[in-house]
Amino acid sequence: MGEEVRDITTKLSGREYIRGGRDGRVFVLREFEITDLNSVVMINRRVLPENYPEFFFVEHYRSFPKAFIVAELDGDVVGYMMNRVEFGWSYIWKGKPTRKGHVISIGVLPEARRLGIAYNMMIRGMRAMKRFYGAEEVYLEVRVSNTPAINLYKKLDYRVVDLIKGYYHDGEDAYIMARPLNNFE
Ligand SMILES: CC(C)(COP(=O)(O)OP(=O)(O)OC[C@H]1O[C@@H](n2cnc3c(N)ncnc32)[C@H](O)[C@@H]1OP(=O)(O)O)[C@@H](O)C(=O)NCCC(=O)NCCS
Repeated sequence: MGEEVRDITTKLSGREYIRGGRDGRVFVLREFEITDLNSVVMINRRVLPENYPEFFFVEHYRSFPKAFIVAELDGDVVGYMMNRVEFGWSYIWKGKPTRKGHVISIGVLPEARRLGIAYNMMIRGMRAMKRFYGAEEVYLEVRVSNTPAINLYKKLDYRVVDLIKGYYHDGEDAYIMARPLNNFE
């Protein structure tokens, strides 16, 4: 029996098949499993200068398993999105203490880009942060020079809410980008 292939993520749990971007290749989204750890650590090292120790991934998996998403292409893990939910001051509603989803790390291998993988992982991850962990908004840090990522977040209706000077280890500034989740299903 063939699995149904959708244009956009709709599931909150388990595997789903998505026909994403321009060339119509089908990828799988699912939750991270502990056997994915090596692949995710390898992708993180290949695509981002911010590299985390293994336990950092494992802690996020243990705390927020439904919001740790991976993508498979032709059977290989090619992307991940790792999140957590925190309690703190809202970036959207000034002065309001809020449960905030925080996108900790997202990456897709160069050979699997522009297929809609990051876009769909973001949607599924944001939905999971809202539905399973009560997030009312979501935020992230991004290098001011990272145009692909900034475009991705703008496409998902994030806006710049703050600038942190010298945030990164090499001195580059970060934008904080955020969006509410009350208007997001
Ligand atoms: C940013 C990144 C995660 C995007 O992954 P992806 O799976 O290729 O992204 P998608 O195919 O889902 O693209 C969604 C949207 O993002 C934007 N985008 C993605 N890549 C882009 C690029 N190279 N240039 C401009 N915009 C880009 C576009 O708006 C795109 O929509 P479109 O295809 O309709 O134009 C990927 O480039 C990556 O892993 N970069 C290195 C790691 C990184 O920077 N992570 C973010 C740290 S904050």
